[in-house]
Amino acid sequence: MTGQRRAQRGPAPKPAQQATNAPPGLAARLLAHRLIAGVLVDRQPLELVLAKEFERPDAAALEPRDRGFARSLASTVLRRQGQLDLVLGTFMTRPLPDEAARVHICLLTGAAQLLFLETPPHAAVGLAVDAVRRTRNGARYAGMTNAVLRRVAAEGRAVLGTRDAASINVPAWLLERWRAAYGEETAQRIADASLREAPLDITLKPGVDSAAWAEKLGGTLTPTGSVRRPADTRVEDLAGYAEGAWWVQDAAATLVARVAGDVRSRTVADLCAAPGGKTSQLAAAGGQVTAVDMSPKRLERLTENLQRLALTADIVTADATTWQPGKTFDVVLLDAPCTATGTIRRHPDILRLKRAEDVTRLAAQQAALLANAAHLVGPGGTLVYSTCSLEREEGQDQIVAFLSAHPQFRREAVEPAHIGGDAGWITPDGDVRTLPCHMKMGSPDLSGMDGFFIARLRRHT
Ligand SMILES: C[S@@+](CC[C@H](N)C(=O)[O-])C[C@H]1O[C@@H](n2cnc3c(N)ncnc32)[C@H](O)[C@@H]1O
Repeated sequence: MTGQRRAQRGPAPKPAQQATNAPPGLAARLLAHRLIAGVLVDRQPLELVLAKEFERPDAAALEPRDRGFARSLASTVLRRQGQLDLVLGTFMTRPLPDEAARVHICLLTGAAQLLFLETPPHAAVGLAVDAVRRTRNGARYAGMTNAVLRRVAAEGRAVLGTRDAASINVPAWLLERWRAAYGEETAQRIADASLREAPLDITLKPGVDSAAWAEKLGGTLTPTGSVRRPADTRVEDLAGYAEGAWWVQDAAATLVARVAGDVRSRTVADLCAAPGGKTSQLAAAGGQVTAVDMSPKRLERLTENLQRLALTADIVTADATTWQPGKTFDVVLLDAPCTATGTIRRHPDILRLKRAEDVTRLAAQQAALLANAAHLVGPGGTLVYSTCSLEREEGQDQIVAFLSAHPQFRREAVEPAHIGGDAGWITPDGDVRTLPCHMKMGSPDLSGMDGFFIARLRRHT
């Protein structure tokens, strides 16, 4: 249910290139440049930039293949910016001035195509030079761009050699945190896995024949019950999409609702619910779900998703730090906003946008959300807390602080078998702690899962 995949839909009017007489392939590169500028210059999350840019008429007029290429090129630049700048810096005689940020982006995309996307050199270099000429005052950089990218094509791979990609691309503050929390070896595995593109995971409605659906979708069943397909799958082309037989959701994200247990005929408050992956699971499993989120726009997507899936939930627009509906619930699920450092495979912009201060800011928000969630759980009820962050302040530290302030709650340990996982995914306290390097499948491209922290608490009085 990612915005990126959803955004590929849309009308298909005449191709933009005919209208502008631009060389083939240039429009896709120019779109990629706008996506990257939205993140690196305007500092907006890639998902937001994609949604906005793909709605523009020139992007909507592109073939889906070209929009897919633009997205893939932008993601590669954001994922590999450390390596790209290293190579470009080797061949540039002087750094670009600040006002040439757009030229820098043309160089980054040219180098990414040469080093990581197997684009023929004449196309990668020629189109980067064309794009530079179209930037403000760009003509003066065209010769330099041509010369630098030709050297990248010829010698760039040798510059990268066997140097460790993870420590070049992952910001030092983040890598240091992972080393401190997980140890050197696991931190390296997390970083390596975070630089791979995530495969596509599909959640089936409960009660269907999973093996038959896996075959129909040309995918592989994960131990957790998702159907996994390669990253470049076009969702809309798959059987069962229009009929609402399934939805897109990372395998690790499915574990949150699973941890809630049997929700049949139970009242469930899903706080921070949009775009609705977990709401869909809980409703499909028979829960009477109230989905709460403060973002009306994201709730629109939740509503569309539920409609496609023929599922129902009460939908409430509210701030979950203060929401008091005047009743309690059997189950409260809080999938809190977080730094999302467990989802870098699918959101490489996190590498470029997040700062250490964000961990502190979001941890305070999570504590406020947890404090209000506590009031919403009825006696004997269950509170499930989750984040897709790898940072302990957003995971286990929240639960330690919450339990000391709320003695009426106790932790209820999760059994690996209950979530189709292995013992390595459960902490000594009984919480779930998945990592991007977990879940080995047949090939590296089909392996991995998002990094999630999930705790289950029971209110005993
Ligand atoms: C991690 S996402 C939730 C993903 C969702 N649970 C799913 O499975 O699709 C976090 C959500 O929290 C919402 N949010 C952030 N702060 C909030 C608050 N104070 N009250 C309610 N919703 C909030 C955001 O709008 C966002 O939709």
